[in-house]
Amino acid sequence: MGKLTIERDNKSYLFEEIISEAELCKRVKELGKQISIDYEGKVPIIIGVLNGSFLFMADLIRNLNIEFEVDFIKISSYGDDLKTSGSVSLIKDTSANITGRDIIVVEDIVDSGLSVKYLYKKLSNNNPKSINVITCLKKKTKKDVDQLIKYIGFNISSSFVIGYGLDFKQKYRGLSSIYNLKSHMES
Ligand code: PRP
Repeated sequence: MGKLTIERDNKSYLFEEIISEAELCKRVKELGKQISIDYEGKVPIIIGVLNGSFLFMADLIRNLNIEFEVDFIKISSYGDDLKTSGSVSLIKDTSANITGRDIIVVEDIVDSGLSVKYLYKKLSNNNPKSINVITCLKKKTKKDVDQLIKYIGFNISSSFVIGYGLDFKQKYRGLSSIYNLKSHMES
């Protein structure tokens, strides 16, 4: 398992790899296969939730054997913090007309579930035919959030994670595997 030390603001953060690039690749292939079966004959609009989902979404759509369109929405719940701010703000809306369409929302991570609940409510207002959510990572959430999520890459513990699209103070999104924060101390 790889380790990663990040020095930032006079603190030393120790991260440890929890999901390798090979494991991510294998799971994304499986999810792509499942979605291709479930959406056979349909043309969903796949909506990526920026910023975090961009790598997962890019890999996922290359593993689909169906026709689809893509769009993006940008929201923010974390900002630069290590934990959710408790409220979601819309930064960029979708551009497609989603009324009557099958929608697949792509998240990198579901943590408190606040973002997914917000997105579900917001997109529902435009009367799509269906909405399903796929997330690469999922922390433990309450039932009302669980029931909104159809596809999960990996269930993980509640620690802070980075890599494969997920940031640490807006950096490190390009790491090919997922790391979690083991400890941090004054340096
Ligand atoms: C992250 C992530 C999800 C959300 C999940 O976004 O991409 O959208 O938080 O957390 P929640 O379940 O507690 O709502 P963030 O606000 O960090 O923006 P980013 O994707 O640009 O990093």
